[in-house]
Amino acid sequence: MSIESLNEEIIALISEKSLMSESGRRSGVYDLFKWFGRRYSILIRSLLASLILDISGIEQVILSDNEKPLKDAYNKTILDPFCGSGIIPFEARKLGFNSICIDINPAAIALVRATYNILTHGCAICECLKQALITTFNELKNLWCTDEWCFVHVFAVRCPPCKAPMWLSKIRSHNSGDNGEVFILFNGKDLEYVKSSNNIKPTYPSVELNPQELVRIGKDVYGYAAEIITTKGQRVFVSLVENNEYRLKLLESIILAKKYLEKIPVIYLPIPEGKEIKRLKKSAIVSFHEIFSPRQLLSLYRFLLNASKYGCANEAAMITASVMRTASFLAFYYQPYAKVNPGLVIKSFWLPEAPVELNPLLYVETKNLSNIKSIGRGTIASYVAKCYRICRQEGGSKHTGLISLIRDNALSIDKYVKDTEDVYAVITDPPYFGRQRYWEMTVLHLYSLRLLGYTNVFEWIKEDINTYSRTKYVSFMKAFASKVYRVLRRDGYLIIIFGVPSSYNEIRILTNVVKSIINKGFGLRAIYSFLGEAPGVMGRSKIYSIIIHVFKRDSSNNIGKRFLELNVKAYKKLEETLKSTGTKIKHLNLQLEAYYTAKYISYLTENLLR
Ligand SMILES: C[S@@+](CC[C@H](N)C(=O)[O-])C[C@H]1O[C@@H](n2cnc3c(N)ncnc32)[C@H](O)[C@@H]1O
Repeated sequence: MSIESLNEEIIALISEKSLMSESGRRSGVYDLFKWFGRRYSILIRSLLASLILDISGIEQVILSDNEKPLKDAYNKTILDPFCGSGIIPFEARKLGFNSICIDINPAAIALVRATYNILTHGCAICECLKQALITTFNELKNLWCTDEWCFVHVFAVRCPPCKAPMWLSKIRSHNSGDNGEVFILFNGKDLEYVKSSNNIKPTYPSVELNPQELVRIGKDVYGYAAEIITTKGQRVFVSLVENNEYRLKLLESIILAKKYLEKIPVIYLPIPEGKEIKRLKKSAIVSFHEIFSPRQLLSLYRFLLNASKYGCANEAAMITASVMRTASFLAFYYQPYAKVNPGLVIKSFWLPEAPVELNPLLYVETKNLSNIKSIGRGTIASYVAKCYRICRQEGGSKHTGLISLIRDNALSIDKYVKDTEDVYAVITDPPYFGRQRYWEMTVLHLYSLRLLGYTNVFEWIKEDINTYSRTKYVSFMKAFASKVYRVLRRDGYLIIIFGVPSSYNEIRILTNVVKSIINKGFGLRAIYSFLGEAPGVMGRSKIYSIIIHVFKRDSSNNIGKRFLELNVKAYKKLEETLKSTGTKIKHLNLQLEAYYTAKYISYLTENLLR
């Protein structure tokens, strides 16, 4: 095994592979559902391989993209007490390790469970999801026009005479403030204010729409312009649809969806408090129904209920969360009140010019679910298609590792693992000091679980690590180290992934954490610095330097100058390789990363390990 003796070539190679290919982090199982800030899988795979292979074996795993199980991994158990979306257990499984994973956040456990079920249950779960989707579609198609154009409505338009982009909310001042639903008709020149009648009945079949009537919102994509806004305490509907018939239909469908939603109080769940979420509140957004249109919410809710009947509720909840992320990204990206992005990870290349209300049921009738057009990304159907793709790729897979999942506090690991010989290694990625609280980026997943009836999901996460208080954070990690000491086998490794500290304060805090782990009976055997992904501000992932601490139970410390030089050399090597291949990595400053790594290791060596 070579976990203590990786060389600069291997370290540089791992970072290079991670950066070049994004390490499959957006493919395979990691593409199934949306999540934030995943680590590069090749890094995790290499670390796991280095527990049982020599350097040339690890190199082979990296270069050949080898996903075959390794014989030496069989019957060995890895523990990840902060499992998040499960990149560590899924990589462990590929190599043949069993794993026990724990997370405080029920959304993380639900996500890992859903992924695991889709990998291991063949396509039966996909069939259930498809049935739930078709049932939902059939239920809702009687409520409103399901033609794709009919559903798309936009939050901003180009003003036809002047072509300037214009937010619908800008024109709300034209509303005279009457009670009830109103819409505003933009007839090309003037704004006309019309009060809706209360006796509109949903009598329409699906309508043929002429794209000429609609606002162009992207290449080959047209939509109605409409929005529900709050003004003077009233929820108001504004529309810029020129054709009267279509405008009425649009209005009816929104009113109808709202009427149904009123019977489901949980839909109006307030967005929970939290640092990031405060930004939403500043934008006057207090509840999820402010982000999502009534039709979207009703579609998602019905899909969840139907999925419960078919026995795939957990997987459906992860799909609705992913769909909501896409939809809310669209809404927020163009949010007229403030530039807010509630922690969404999505590529922007397919975004239309203006935000659209994405019909979550779009393309349900497409026979071939994998043939989804770009505007259909982020719909339920597109996620069901992904599930099919993954289960076909991985179905009957040769991977042998088992995954046990537990929702609990990492400090409770000794409740689940009693025999010290059980755990071969603990490899984990705890929250970093000073970064945001992780659950805040998972509110949409939690919300989906809440819609399913799990009433206490927002309570459970309150016990997550306090990453803002230095003393609480360090004492948590201290308590954690003593629990790991109890469950880890005598010669076992504790491998911790942290973001590289980028200020003197963070350097001191991390050093304190390391010190308390050493005081609990571990020796610090190696430090490696790689480039990897971590959640950045507002949940947008960024490439950071991440640092791996390798501790061994009952052993002496063994770092110092050698590791400092090794890591800096690895950065130099990486820089050369990237230059020679002409690879440009956005926002990446290798020298700076090397500088912080060196600074941290030298501080640690001088102050702790002399
Ligand atoms: C950096 S993330 C882990 C990322 C993970 N490796 C992945 O692949 O997505 C840290 C995780 O620790 C969890 N967490 C925070 N406090 C916890 C606690 N007290 N016990 C267990 N898990 C906790 C968070 O919910 C979060 O999922």
